[in-house]
Amino acid sequence: MNGLQIIAAGAAHPGRSVSNDDLAKVVETDDEWIYSRTGIHSRFFCEGEESCVSLAINAAKLALERSGLPAGSIGCCICATMSGDYATPGVSCLVQQALGLREDIPVMDLNAACSGFIYALETARGLLAEAESPYALIIGVEQLSRLLDMTDRSTCVLFGDGGGAVVVRCIPSAAHAAILGARGGMQICCRGAGYEHSYIEMDGKAVFRFAVEAIPKCISYLLTHAELTLEDIDYVICHQANARIIDHCVRKLKADPGKFYQDMDHFGNTSAASIPLALNEMYENGLLHPGQKLLLVGFGSGLTWGGILVSI
Ligand code: UT7
Repeated sequence: MNGLQIIAAGAAHPGRSVSNDDLAKVVETDDEWIYSRTGIHSRFFCEGEESCVSLAINAAKLALERSGLPAGSIGCCICATMSGDYATPGVSCLVQQALGLREDIPVMDLNAACSGFIYALETARGLLAEAESPYALIIGVEQLSRLLDMTDRSTCVLFGDGGGAVVVRCIPSAAHAAILGARGGMQICCRGAGYEHSYIEMDGKAVFRFAVEAIPKCISYLLTHAELTLEDIDYVICHQANARIIDHCVRKLKADPGKFYQDMDHFGNTSAASIPLALNEMYENGLLHPGQKLLLVGFGSGLTWGGILVSI
């Protein structure tokens, strides 16, 4: 069995931070409602030239630089996104060009909504098993602000823009556990470019119920499969959609809340970018050290879900 080790992370967010009070100027809402229901105080929105492509390139450059590896050593590049600049080419191909990655490696975008980063890691693990190089560059990036209906207060206050990237190494015979799944459904929906009303629409309560069922199920599966307990895990990083979802799961699992990292207060819900943004922030805050074990758990539109055990 091959396992994944994260060897470096990088991230990029737009320059413009948008507070709950800023949103209260354009839609009927207030900081108290948003923060108490979601744990979100502010999020970043792209401006001017900022986009998925620029965020992904900046995040990926930083991760590669911090890994100390030459661009030529990357054996696979996957970008998880549902809001890429173009239907084609993929964000990943423009990152490949900007960073000078090899031409004889798989480079692709992957859309599994907010579970995309988990799907990308597990896909890369499979691809690397057959590759010459053990290293992959995995990116999660979103520009959700361009998919928001700024007159719909039930969705426009939740989401934000950003990008994160990691360089991972595939290690033969390392501990591994992963699970990917989907339930099927339209509970979160966004039409493609060219359609009228191409905005994120969501049945928030249904998604909340799904998330608090999927996360503990995923964590229990990963622990059982890897023959570990939560005591053996240094951090659990869930998709950062809502602090109440994470708190609910912590209570259900009778877990230490300090192990469940949260940063949605200043990023909002950035879909596929939320887990790599958190990983980068944890590195920058000195929380991650070689030898640690992390559980990463995603859930979102589809309804997709998934989790993976990784080491540092
Ligand atoms: O990455 C994708 C994953 N998505 C999620 O994880 C979302 C999961 N769901 C949630 O986080 C929650 O369902 C929400 C935060 C989206 C909504 O919280 P809720 O407790 O389910 O609120 P609600 O939709 O039932 O709305 C309650 C009330 C309504 O008013 P009435 O009908 O009770 O008078 C809404 O109109 O709150 C009102 N409301 C707002 N009020 C102020 C809805 N949005 C707002 C708002 N500001 N922004």
